Amino acid sequence: DDELLLRPQKLNQYIGQANIKEMLSIYIQAALKRNESLDHILLYGAPGLGKTTLAQIIANELGVNIKITSGPAIEKTGDLAALLTTLKHGDVLFIDEIHRLPRFVEEVLYSAMEDYVLDIVLDKDRDSRSIRIELPPFTLIGATTRFGDLSHPLRDRFGATLRLSYYTQEELAQIVSRTANVYQNDIEEEAVKELAKRSRGTPRIANRLFRRVRDFAEIMSDGVITHDITNLALTKLGIDSRGLDHSDYLYLKGIVERFNGGPVGLESIASTIGEEPGTIEDVFEPYLLQEGYIKRTPRGRVATELAYSVLGKKYYKGLLDWK
Ligand code: ADE
Repeated sequence: DDELLLRPQKLNQYIGQANIKEMLSIYIQAALKRNESLDHILLYGAPGLGKTTLAQIIANELGVNIKITSGPAIEKTGDLAALLTTLKHGDVLFIDEIHRLPRFVEEVLYSAMEDYVLDIVLDKDRDSRSIRIELPPFTLIGATTRFGDLSHPLRDRFGATLRLSYYTQEELAQIVSRTANVYQNDIEEEAVKELAKRSRGTPRIANRLFRRVRDFAEIMSDGVITHDITNLALTKLGIDSRGLDHSDYLYLKGIVERFNGGPVGLESIASTIGEEPGTIEDVFEPYLLQEGYIKRTPRGRVATELAYSVLGKKYYKGLLDWK
């Protein structure tokens, strides 16, 4: 399907994250040269930056199979056992949202990662017999949006932790051009730049916006994605010139109007705007923090002068110090 076509298959087709690509390329070549499984790898970063794509690329480059699952999908140790026992020598197991693995499953994973054995306790209530299953050497790739939520024993068992950053506008422009090419749509250079500018540094958003703009271009004109149609479509979608959407505005307005600019705790702002605290922390805040719309202080979130200016409100200099 489309999603599959859009995903690059090899490391040299993957745009951006130069540092990560360089490290991975060396680790992969070294593992191949020694004919060993690659060390376990933890990918850490905001949603939509390409963690799953990277995991698939790693498996492709190693020439092994990949099994894909997620923390919340593994409810019992048996679910984990079922996955691990189908792996062949050197295969990759990808666990998305690994911070959401149940604790008792995580504990079984430790010996699997460290010694390639599974210790399964049978009939826990009566006696504690356990069986040991030997596993082939494999590579666990874990992905998380929240490094801090990972237990220390789990963190310690990864050979490398790679942190994905937001993409630059140039990198996003390359991704949008590539996407237009995959879909065989003509697109103006200014439209590419506009999409790149309004995608919150995130390829998944760039590709989603691309598909919406393409709908407009195909229905309202001859399918060529012009700068005008891009602007029109993005405005109708409620994406402003900075890439902020309705939810971002609700969040910033919440802090500024309801809490006088902060500091305000996550729970308070969450209940004010009717969003899950976890969603706010993982999805909205990282970009707003990186772009300087908000700051995090020990006493809570604070709106910056930039936030006031996008809301068209006057910011009183020194207000933060005064509080
Ligand atoms: N599609 C989504 N993310 C990508 C990336 N980083 N490089 C190339 N294509 C992509």
